Amino acid sequence: MKKNQIKTVKGFNEVLPPESFRWRQVEDKFRNLLEGYGFAELRLALLEPTELFARSIGDETDIVEKEMYTFRDRSERSLTLRPEGTASVVRAFNQYSLGKLSEINKLYYSGPMFRYERPQKGRYRQFHQLGAEVFGEASFYQDAETLVMLAQLFHTLSIEGVNLHLNSLGCAACRPAYRDKLKSFLLERRSSLCGDCQRRIQENPLRALDCKNPACREAVLGAPQINHSLCDDCRAHFSGLCGLLDDVGLEYQVDSQLVRGLDYYTRTTFEFLAGDLGAQNAVAAGGRYDLLVEELGGKPTPAFGFAIGFERLMMLAGDKLAPSTSPFAALVPLGEAALRRLFPLHVSLNRNARVTTLGFQQKSLKSQLKKADKDGVMYALIVGPDELDQGIAICRNMRTKEQTQLSLNNLEEALRELYDEC
Ligand code: HAM
Repeated sequence: MKKNQIKTVKGFNEVLPPESFRWRQVEDKFRNLLEGYGFAELRLALLEPTELFARSIGDETDIVEKEMYTFRDRSERSLTLRPEGTASVVRAFNQYSLGKLSEINKLYYSGPMFRYERPQKGRYRQFHQLGAEVFGEASFYQDAETLVMLAQLFHTLSIEGVNLHLNSLGCAACRPAYRDKLKSFLLERRSSLCGDCQRRIQENPLRALDCKNPACREAVLGAPQINHSLCDDCRAHFSGLCGLLDDVGLEYQVDSQLVRGLDYYTRTTFEFLAGDLGAQNAVAAGGRYDLLVEELGGKPTPAFGFAIGFERLMMLAGDKLAPSTSPFAALVPLGEAALRRLFPLHVSLNRNARVTTLGFQQKSLKSQLKKADKDGVMYALIVGPDELDQGIAICRNMRTKEQTQLSLNNLEEALRELYDEC
């Protein structure tokens, strides 16, 4: 790269062809699957008032304290590039009173998210998520249906070796007593904890369970486990969910350390982990957040959702997908007059579908056929001065190398027939 060229911001992941073809195939599969389950798409703003994330993800999380792209606009408002989608979906749910439209709202979204993390394989500063949220359903059947749907997506994409880890974080009734127990445990080990965890003991002791610092990891070994402190309702919800997953044969592992890096969860939390991904092994994650809609100013509404890391999903699915869609035919003009004659045909065919390419550069037959081969087209239609005189095109099957003649006047029709035969 030359010195004066401008590059993307570090860690901002972009998707180039042919990878973008693969992404679209996966996105289509995701959409089809979710729409089959009754989800509808939301297209959300990328930029939000900073307060939205501070109030939902939590003031004392790594995301809000250290990872957000926050700046003041020209009116001195503090704005943030969204680090995740759930807060925005809840904001939209409240802003547009979506709860009034139907009792249960199932919404999905896709797009870029932004977190100032240290870039490495599978971790970027601009990354992409496919996400979904269900509002208005408190039953553990909803949790189970959503998890089964996600497992179905992995299956559809022939992804294997993804393991579901599950936990329950309790609710407003049972979590305060657990927090107190955890607080006492952490205070006894205060000096072994990192600065962040020491600071967060009083307000948000659960964060210590999620800290990646090796000293903190060791210090929290043997910490009281939330799933031993659940109230009867939370215990019934969790065992109900586990029972349904057993019934449908979706394997899972109960993981009492799974507290997630966002504060809004209540009851079920989960992650799908893939060994093939290395250190950044969570391909999808989410859970239940029954209090968030109300905390952001809406009516009390239970909710459950997930987000898939698109880049990580593609690392698992990528090479099993077709690399690209090729044009069907190459129009190969030899000389200016043939180019002129073929141009209207090219335009007309491509008005309906992207089926032909046409070389404008007056290159040799050999080089045009080489390019057609590289593009993976089925047929090359060759027209030179002699063919123009005779009113024909030579139709070359690029796989078998067989050549036939087609009338120039009926070329469009003939090409459509060949296309339909494929
Ligand atoms: P999250 O665990 O922060 O949850 O992110 C979900 C997924 O996004 C992760 O499992 C991972 O695959 C991907 N991801 C996160 N950060 C990065 C990064 N820096 N680079 C690449 N991929 C990344 C949420 O975002 C919640 N909103 C999920 C949710 C939806 N909970 C309820 N509804």
